[in-house]
Amino acid sequence: MIREMRAAIFDLDGVIVNTAKYHYLAWKCLANKYGFDFTEADNERLKGVSRTQSLEILLEIAGLSFDDSTKAQMAVSKNEWYVNYIRHMDASEILPGAIEYLQRIRAKGIKTGLGSASRNAPLILERLDISALFDVIVDGNKVTKAKPDPEVFLRAANELGIPPARCIVFEDAEAGIEAAHRAGMGAVGIGNTRILKEADIVIPGLFELVVISPY
Ligand code: G6P
Ligand code: MG
Repeated sequence: MIREMRAAIFDLDGVIVNTAKYHYLAWKCLANKYGFDFTEADNERLKGVSRTQSLEILLEIAGLSFDDSTKAQMAVSKNEWYVNYIRHMDASEILPGAIEYLQRIRAKGIKTGLGSASRNAPLILERLDISALFDVIVDGNKVTKAKPDPEVFLRAANELGIPPARCIVFEDAEAGIEAAHRAGMGAVGIGNTRILKEADIVIPGLFELVVISPY
């Protein structure tokens, strides 16, 4: 599968950078404030999913309902906590092997894209100074449908000018693996095989590919 790759499209949170833990912590802050809780297993359902949809999932788990303006305020609060975490990030938060793998495949002529649901992606890329590693950047500010909808990956492939069947997606979220497959792309899971059951292969991190990939 990887041998046919002409473009690699990377999720951001949990694949390139260790921000998944900050999303989790910020949602925990919100849950504490409103007197509910959620488990790490619940948290897997939030990965790759947009901010508003994540809130809907949490409220469903908690069995709570709020009016639209309260929910909008809750999403703002969560994002304030999250941005407070990420605004001080530096290059030490880049996950092992990410830069090396991106540089390696780019040197081999493989196109690289970012396909993230996050509206904070521009801030993160700027903080870490890694925008130049991507030929195209598609984030939550550019798409209308959240993963598992394939829009984010199809748009990246289109902007790269590479057919979806020749793109490989790198994802740490179940919703992202489903989005990749719905886009007609291969999906490399980053993380736990038990959680990312639908991925074509699962590796613990991009550092693994720096070692084993022919690219
Ligand atoms: C990523 C994360 C999700 C997050 C989403 C939106 O996909 O995995 O946990 O909810 O981005 O992020 P944002 O920064 O826009 O709240
Ligand atoms: Mg992710």
